[in-house]
Amino acid sequence: MYIMFKIILHLSFLFLVDRSLSSPIKQNKTKVLILGAGLSGIKAAKTLLDRNITDILILEGKNYTGGRIHAIEFANYSIETGANWIHFVNDGETKPIVDRRDAKKMQGLTSNYSDILVRDEAGNDITDFAVLREFYDKIEHKIEDYQLKRKGQPDFPARVGMQMMGWSAEQPIKSVIEYFNFDFEFARSPEVVSFHNMFERGEDFFIADGRGVWSMYEDLYKPLEAKTLLGKLVKKIKYNADSVEVQTSDGWSYQADYALCTFSSGVLASDLVTFEPALPDWKKRGHL
Ligand SMILES: Cc1cc2nc3c(=O)[nH]c(=O)nc-3n(C[C@H](O)[C@H](O)[C@H](O)COP(=O)(O)OP(=O)(O)OC[C@H]3O[C@@H](n4cnc5c(N)ncnc54)[C@H](O)[C@@H]3O)c2cc1C
Ligand SMILES: *[C@@H]1O[C@H](CO)[C@@H](O)[C@H](O)[C@H]1NC(C)=O
Ligand SMILES: *[C@@H]1O[C@H](CO)[C@@H](O)[C@H](O)[C@H]1NC(C)=O
Ligand SMILES: *[C@@H]1O[C@H](CO)[C@@H](O)[C@H](O)[C@H]1NC(C)=O
Ligand SMILES: *[C@@H]1O[C@H](CO)[C@@H](O)[C@H](O)[C@H]1NC(C)=O
Ligand SMILES: *[C@@H]1O[C@H](CO)[C@@H](O)[C@H](O)[C@H]1NC(C)=O
Repeated sequence: MYIMFKIILHLSFLFLVDRSLSSPIKQNKTKVLILGAGLSGIKAAKTLLDRNITDILILEGKNYTGGRIHAIEFANYSIETGANWIHFVNDGETKPIVDRRDAKKMQGLTSNYSDILVRDEAGNDITDFAVLREFYDKIEHKIEDYQLKRKGQPDFPARVGMQMMGWSAEQPIKSVIEYFNFDFEFARSPEVVSFHNMFERGEDFFIADGRGVWSMYEDLYKPLEAKTLLGKLVKKIKYNADSVEVQTSDGWSYQADYALCTFSSGVLASDLVTFEPALPDWKKRGHL
């Protein structure tokens, strides 16, 4: 009996090995594929689920969901490596996120960026609120009206726009203000930030909660766990008017009637994922 069992086990093992060798492409078919398990993908999938569209599969390259909302463990503290702030807490559009924060009683603090300290290279406090006020008066409080007036006209660098609005960074403290508003915020200098990307800051909430920012969205990703495949790095997306085929780096192929790709513009601009046919130029122009 035992030997018999062993032989069957061996045989089935051989069978499995053989099958995977003879057909390296393993296939799966669903109605909808969601590519990426960040907030966009998870919210889209949950929206479908709520409309009783259940034949869906989410493919995620990393071994966790949340994408750019992700905390890591460091010296027994939970440290956010991505999104940490709820911006514009008093704006109507932000209410859904603020409601989640309140429902979960997320710890943190509100800031309107008035509590500022500027030091020079020797460590001296050179904070000058008059200069900050000048930036608010000349740029921040006026920026959105100014952009509206120029609507439809060609864009230009933020540096040029600020000069037109009467601001120049000739003092070190002004460079600090610019660093905070451009280099830090956009990871780009004012020379390459689009004038139309500038905005007036509002009141923001900094989440400092050991459960991590992503826990605010638990009600969205929990019901999708069985439909989410982690470690599925998408390499190729073939599509036509009727269907999509997605190939992952582990040799799997996923077919669907529809696919929603939520990869960042940076991923799309790289050669990590091949689209077949290639994405149209109007789409590529939006990639960074
Ligand atoms: C450092 C940092 C700080 C930020 N701070 C804030 C903040 O304070 N407040 C705020 O509102 N926003 C902040 N953001 C922006 C915010 O995090 C993002 O706008 C938001 O999380 C994007 O969600 P998404 O689902 O659209 O994209 P993503 O979260 O990028 O989700 C896309 C998913 O696709 C996956 N993916 C990509 N390529 C592949 C592939 N080839 N195969 C399979 N899977 C793939 C990714 O792993 C990812 O999980 C910050 C972003 C960063 C990076
Ligand atoms: C195939 O798709 C189904 C959902 O339709 C999913 O539950 C299953 O995990 C997938 N299998 C593989 C190996 O990808
Ligand atoms: C989804 O299905 C459930 C139960 O089958 C039903 O009660 C609900 O009304 C359906 N929702 C939609 C949006 O069709
Ligand atoms: C996820 O992947 C990272 C690095 O790629 C690894 O350090 C970590 O242990 C993995 N976590 C899990 C739960 O598999
Ligand atoms: C983290 O917590 C563990 C268990 O409480 C403890 O042994 C360890 O020293 C802590 N590490 C740090 C860096 O504080
Ligand atoms: C910003 O917050 C501080 C402290 O909470 C407050 O004193 C100040 O009036 C606020 N400024 C604005 C412009 O709302």
